[in-house]
Amino acid sequence: MNPENSAQKKKIIVLASGRGSNFQAIIDAMIPADIPATCIRLITDNPGAYAIERAKKAGIPVTVVDYGSFSSKKQYEEALLEILNEYDPDLVLLAGYMRIVGDDIVRRFRGKMINIHPALLPSFPGLHSQQQALDYGVRFSGCTVHFVDEHMDSGPIIVQACVPVLPGDDEETLAGRILEEEHRCFPLAVKLFCTDRLRIKGRVVEVLD
Ligand code: GRF
Repeated sequence: MNPENSAQKKKIIVLASGRGSNFQAIIDAMIPADIPATCIRLITDNPGAYAIERAKKAGIPVTVVDYGSFSSKKQYEEALLEILNEYDPDLVLLAGYMRIVGDDIVRRFRGKMINIHPALLPSFPGLHSQQQALDYGVRFSGCTVHFVDEHMDSGPIIVQACVPVLPGDDEETLAGRILEEEHRCFPLAVKLFCTDRLRIKGRVVEVLD
């Protein structure tokens, strides 16, 4: 990427709470430099998150906003919003961020915050969506990348991919199959966003050519 293009690069902040394999997929997708963006920081609520190691290895700065050190969710959210405002990202990615984002942050980053969920929304929002899919007996599940709104796992959908639920699957095997699609879909959605190809019209996200 030459310096002229770098002026238009979008600034991305990733929020992650744990393993961070989706964060890694974003890091890896940026190496060929065909996504006009820079990951300027990882923010985590969990000081033990493996995502921190991934950030260090990639040379990405990390801020830990340790949820456990705040006396209320409100205080935590205020601190998080202050840091986000300080860096003023063009895009915030929730990459396995295991908390519900508060309304003030959602409002501040409306249309600029993207989440990945391991089910075909609107089916199976919330935790353990792979187990929910197994318990329901669906033949297909998958993943959804969507803009974040005030409700859990409910915003306008950008990309989805489908996987079969196979006989004998348990939560782990199904999660692994879905995760492969997550690692493909999340960078794709980020690329579409960073190349200004997404238009939100109510619930529907149009993808421009
Ligand atoms: C992924 O399945 C993601 O869809 C969900 O939490 C999991 C996080 O995995 N929100 P990782 O931390 O990205 O490896």
